[in-house]
Amino acid sequence: MNTRTVISAFVLLLMPAASFGASVGVELDHVRIDPTNTASLQRGARTFVNYCLGCHTADYQRYNRIAQDVGLTDEQVVENLVFTTDDAGERTKVGSLMFNNMSKDYGKQAFGASPPNLALTARSRGTDWLYTYLRTFYLDPSRPVGVNNKVFAGASMPHVLWELQGWQKPVYETQTDAHGHEAEVMVGFELVTKGKQTPEEYDRTVADLVNFMAYMADPIKVVRHRVGMWVMLFLIVFLVVAYQLKKEYWRDIVK
Ligand code: HEC
Repeated sequence: MNTRTVISAFVLLLMPAASFGASVGVELDHVRIDPTNTASLQRGARTFVNYCLGCHTADYQRYNRIAQDVGLTDEQVVENLVFTTDDAGERTKVGSLMFNNMSKDYGKQAFGASPPNLALTARSRGTDWLYTYLRTFYLDPSRPVGVNNKVFAGASMPHVLWELQGWQKPVYETQTDAHGHEAEVMVGFELVTKGKQTPEEYDRTVADLVNFMAYMADPIKVVRHRVGMWVMLFLIVFLVVAYQLKKEYWRDIVK
């Protein structure tokens, strides 16, 4: 392999990350994700099943797996998080995947786009994108559902958390770009109807929800890190043993 091949391979490896960064365009707000904060995950799970699971599924994820990972018993999960029914009309079992009762066709008819599975969205879109998306729905009478979104312009999802956040309208400012063109730029939002939560409380609710969605997109992250630490520790101890052995084997040959 010559140097050029190595460099091309390296550039190719970096490309997906680069193009992902470029596709964002809008400035995103940062959210801190902590998969070990089980209280936050529990709050996020509650918001998710109450406000999202009606339209979206997350059917790579099982309810009892959540119980195990966020420190709840199966009974607590059934009581607080399982609100759907199965085909026989009985409450969904705790070992089931998190599906919902809305068909894809109905979703498409009702909203123009069917609500996608959200199990892996924290990975496909990124957590900062989700955090910004869920906080930047704004009133826009030209849209079928009356709202638009800062990071997902033209999204057909209604602002389902309006009860908590309230309604906000965009604030525009006229700015001149480097070529001297004037343009209206969205610089922020103004709350026109208050919600049940203050802006700070709402940010925390969304941060917990995004934390839960990040957990769902990578449920064994905490376990993987823990096992990884033990593996590293083993390798370090093994290095000492292997080095001593090597010294012993070569003692009579290399003086
Ligand atoms: C009333 C139905 C409905 C509810 C409830 C709902 N959504 Fe949506 N959602 C939609 C629809 C429809 C789309 C598709 C939008 C499009 O493609 O234009 C969507 C799209 C999304 C997307 C974009 C996915 C992608 O990668 O394109 C995310 C993220 C999302 N929803 C998160 C949520 C979260 C989190 C909740 C709960 C707080 C929620 N949704 C509740 C209808 C809903």
